[in-house]
Amino acid sequence: MFTNQFFNKKPIHAWLLCLFFVFGFFADRNYANVPAAVVSAHPLATAAGTKILNEGGNAFDAAVAVSAVLAVVEPYASGLGGGGFWLLHNATNARDIMIDGREIAPLEASEHMYLNRDGQPIPGKSLNGPIAAGIPGTPAALVHLTQNFGQLTLAQNLKPAIQLARDGFKVDQRFARTLRYHEKKLAQYPDTAKIFLPDGKLPVAGDWFRQPQLAGTLNEIAKSGMNGFYHGSVAKELVHSVRKAGGVWREQDLYHYKIVAREPVQFEYRNTRITTASLPSAGGLTLAQAFNILEYLPLDKDDSDNQAHLITEILRLTYKDRIELLGDSDFDQVPAKKLLSKGYAREQAALIDPEQAGKSILKQSIVNESVETTHFSIIDKAGNRVAATMSINTFFGSGFVAGNTGILLNNEMDDFSKGRNIPNIFGLYGSHANMIAPGKRPLSSMSPTFVENDKGILIVGTPGGSRIISMLFLVILDYINNNQMDPQKLVEMPRFHHQYLPDFIQVEPDAFDPGWIASLQAKGHEVRIMSQKWGNMQLILFDKENQQTRAASDPRGLSDTHY
Ligand code: DON
Repeated sequence: MFTNQFFNKKPIHAWLLCLFFVFGFFADRNYANVPAAVVSAHPLATAAGTKILNEGGNAFDAAVAVSAVLAVVEPYASGLGGGGFWLLHNATNARDIMIDGREIAPLEASEHMYLNRDGQPIPGKSLNGPIAAGIPGTPAALVHLTQNFGQLTLAQNLKPAIQLARDGFKVDQRFARTLRYHEKKLAQYPDTAKIFLPDGKLPVAGDWFRQPQLAGTLNEIAKSGMNGFYHGSVAKELVHSVRKAGGVWREQDLYHYKIVAREPVQFEYRNTRITTASLPSAGGLTLAQAFNILEYLPLDKDDSDNQAHLITEILRLTYKDRIELLGDSDFDQVPAKKLLSKGYAREQAALIDPEQAGKSILKQSIVNESVETTHFSIIDKAGNRVAATMSINTFFGSGFVAGNTGILLNNEMDDFSKGRNIPNIFGLYGSHANMIAPGKRPLSSMSPTFVENDKGILIVGTPGGSRIISMLFLVILDYINNNQMDPQKLVEMPRFHHQYLPDFIQVEPDAFDPGWIASLQAKGHEVRIMSQKWGNMQLILFDKENQQTRAASDPRGLSDTHY
């Protein structure tokens, strides 16, 4: 299905990023002699996670260290001013849990806050400046992870990040490129410019980059936990600077922020258990629906064109439900039980014509290609696992650094639906279930995932906005149906995507041969080759047969062409 030139053309960079180390033997009753592994989008974060494991921390401690270091070295992708989902497997009791550190809408937020009097969206308002920022959840998640699951102290887990923020690190090519592309955005707010355009100049690769203000805030969290961010001087400065620049945060918003420990979505497909993100991520429900439909529409292994057609139609149907039904289930009723039922999957499967593309109801929708988020995966010697996807939404989030906190705020409010006919930056529409309300979490696509069967375990996830879910669908299918046990091939595999609206198949450039595209067109699909590849998948594969752990990093993450 995915045969093409892609594998031969791309350089393998994963060695840069994946550090492995054997720790001895698993305490876990199921596995023995499994090396621990950390894989992330940045070598400094991977190194920090590894160091924490070496110092006696477990996977959850390492997750805190990696999350915090990513906030420092990839400030354009995630950070303390954002949120995320940390999917945990606790080897001691074999329990899976999802720490939901998603941002919440501030108390002064309202359904129409981004619309003008005519009900039309005010261009850029849900994306730029502090008005676009939800109340961050990442600091709370790091405190919770350490206090409830870790073996080390918060100060130990945050130390690598504090050092890198305080002492600095060398600007890498990717960071330099990102800064260059977004220079205008960074120049808009003085506290942002002070950090990212020091002395008014754009940092270039090889420059030394320090964030002393961020080091100070990290120190406060290391010292005082939740109080270091959500109460006291940092909270005051956050609120003061946000309100001064037109935002609506109140101190109460910060005081009341809470992570939620949620049951992940768990389902089976062909003797494989998939554990993934629950609401407010759409990932779990959408993936479960997709695999359930496949039970009634088996893919023909030898017919790659038809596989692509069926996968597209499944994505069309499941993303339609996402648009129409999904949102924060603490606020709106979501018919999750029905969506997960086999009966519903059978009905949906019956809607798919094997020879003809379905139709989405016509609406205009853009596909934006410049956004960023980050994912990492960890397994420790005891068999504890973490898959975490974290975000500030688009590159450099809202572009607003809050006063002297050094914290760049997210623009995750854009993930809410602002009205039935108003798409977000990913071209996603939404229903009432995803409309803005105070304290509500915007619907997400971030989907940290575990996949387990007799052959092995995958710990996987990726950035990519609305495409996150289809990327995972393709990778999990390749692992299960094609028995693909090479982690590098899994992360490198070429990608296509459909999300109901816009009604065309998005295809990575230089990824599929013309015959494959023509066969989809013959079935009535519009196929558009996008200008850039997408995703930055980080994957660990534990191979049960030979008791080996291998990790792979998406080469797109280091290339010029990904977003
Ligand atoms: O939560 C979401 O679905 C988005 N805010 C994630 C953004 C993202 O993945 C951008 N990355 N390329």
